[in-house]
Amino acid sequence: MRDQMRKLIVGNWKMNGTSRDVSEIIAIAELSGMHAAVDAALCLPATLIDRASQAAGGFAIGGQDCHMMEAGAHTGCLSAEMLLDAGAVLTIIGHSERRAAQHEQDSDIRAKAEAAQVAGLQVIVCVGETLDERESKKALNVVLGQLHQSLPETAASQWLSVAYEPVWAIGTGRVADTNDVAEMHGAMRAALVERFGEDGRKIRILYGGSMNGDNAAQLLAVPNVDGGLIGGASLTAAKFRPILSAAAALSK
Ligand code: 13P
Repeated sequence: MRDQMRKLIVGNWKMNGTSRDVSEIIAIAELSGMHAAVDAALCLPATLIDRASQAAGGFAIGGQDCHMMEAGAHTGCLSAEMLLDAGAVLTIIGHSERRAAQHEQDSDIRAKAEAAQVAGLQVIVCVGETLDERESKKALNVVLGQLHQSLPETAASQWLSVAYEPVWAIGTGRVADTNDVAEMHGAMRAALVERFGEDGRKIRILYGGSMNGDNAAQLLAVPNVDGGLIGGASLTAAKFRPILSAAAALSK
């Protein structure tokens, strides 16, 4: 996962998966090995990271969150170091489901992203507007605000990607219009370059929200869409395969 502008396809298993699913993880890892032009990873429930990273032979396994502190009295939480220790090489931070259900604020997300980077994890920071915000034409402002507040100053100095995931497109089957995706990703790219200079061009911007084998080629071809963050369609190798193939076709 080194070359920044290769397409990056990441599965987010959310709260799905037990040891019964390790064979599916291995199948996805093998599939990724057949698509050498694409960077791929699976962000799994923490309980599966150790087993999966041992079983998947070098395939990138990640977590879905981490705490901003290194250690201490934080019952139920995991530090970035613990994820690394279990075999993770990356983690998602600030997913909208955590922003909503765990009331994570931009300042929390920024601190977590920084902690993860310091520990040596690669990071995917998520941003995205709600349906209300899109319908009231606030989407650009909301997302650029989240981007500004959630990214640490170190963002561009170490491997970090951002994921634009419109909340209303997640798990709904309703995909963002490609013109809207182009507008949002273009605005995010401009904001990244304004803040980080030329390094801002190296930060991959992923799209997430009901991406699947039917729409991946179209979405991944949009300018400044450098990959995808995929929920439901990452749970089986059969559903993940056409997304990897679409990314590989665009990488040629
Ligand atoms: P779906 O692909 O299931 O819409 O989920 C997207 C997502 O939230 C990935 O983080």
